[in-house]
Amino acid sequence: MSALLEEAHLASALARIADRSARVGVLYGGMSSERGVSIKSGKAVLAALLSRGWSAVGIDVGPDLPERLRAEGVEVAWIALHGQFGEDGCVQGLLELMRVPYTGSGVRASAVAMDKVMTKRALRSGEVRLVPDAVWRRGQALPTELGLPVICKTPQGGSTIGIIKVEAAEALAPALNTLAELDEEVLVERFITGEEITVAVLSGEALPVVSIRPVGAGAMFDFAAKYTEGRTEYIVPAPISEMAAADASAQALAAYRALGLSGVARADFIIDAEGRAWFLEVNTLPGMTATSLSPMAAGAVGIPFEGLVERVLCAATLHTRRADPERVARPGEAAPTNAPS
Ligand SMILES: Nc1ncnc2c1ncn2[C@@H]1O[C@H](COP(=O)(O)OP(=O)(O)O)[C@@H](O)[C@H]1O
Ligand SMILES: [Mg+2]
Repeated sequence: MSALLEEAHLASALARIADRSARVGVLYGGMSSERGVSIKSGKAVLAALLSRGWSAVGIDVGPDLPERLRAEGVEVAWIALHGQFGEDGCVQGLLELMRVPYTGSGVRASAVAMDKVMTKRALRSGEVRLVPDAVWRRGQALPTELGLPVICKTPQGGSTIGIIKVEAAEALAPALNTLAELDEEVLVERFITGEEITVAVLSGEALPVVSIRPVGAGAMFDFAAKYTEGRTEYIVPAPISEMAAADASAQALAAYRALGLSGVARADFIIDAEGRAWFLEVNTLPGMTATSLSPMAAGAVGIPFEGLVERVLCAATLHTRRADPERVARPGEAAPTNAPS
């Protein structure tokens, strides 16, 4: 297809999204460790679209994705994948190449946001408060300058897989070596004591802050707590000071803009005793079941789950514009001009 034809094709797909007649493929499942969560997100998104009258089909993502998209006549993809291949720019790259508009962030933004070291590098000079850290590789001196406790994590981990809290000096080397089995780099961060919160951003607007609290008197910092039903309590809007909420929201927006994110994304923070929010990470494809955190935050401003799913869909696009081949100079040739020869 020529670049011009391709642009016309894209314009018609976008117009069909706008008038709600586009055929939607909900991409879910996939090949990451978060497959189970993604199946739940995908089913919820599909049900929401069908209930609002869209022509939509669920596609469990594997290596045959291009054939499946063509066979189903998919004109726009609602990406409900999490983790590797789905949240890291891989599927986004395939869709760019196939010229199928999709929801959420583009290839580069997805890839950067997936990697906690790259994310912090991209945000270093901006308005986001970053936890003091060190990046450790095998063979390097132990990063002791941060003091203790520290949190060690793999840059590409997710759902707290590959995270170790180190409280004693002698535990640091074993923790680093364990994580170095999973990734070449290990991110070591000062441990921030405080309240965990998350801020969802929808198309450049921050939704109310949600607080994430382990349940029970004297409940301790515990990774398992976050992922065991009933052991975590979510409160929206978060019962924190107005100043702390404003600080966290401003940082979430700044991170969203600096990383060039699109659609719905969720930034995680810890608020310390002084009310300062420390940025931990940003998720470009946050959970999308009716009880997930972003839908909960949207609900607090009167956007029902179905409405959120539709808003995300209506912002679907392609992020890579193909250059017009007529205007691209081949190596060794001058760029063509319109001037008569
Ligand atoms: N610097 C830190 N200080 C205190 N707790 C942290 C820190 N970094 C991570 N954690 C804890 O680990 C959890 C997961 O870390 P996070 O960076 O959000 O990675 P992911 O959610 O991708 O696994 C956080 O929700 C928080 O409970
Ligand atoms: Mg997190």
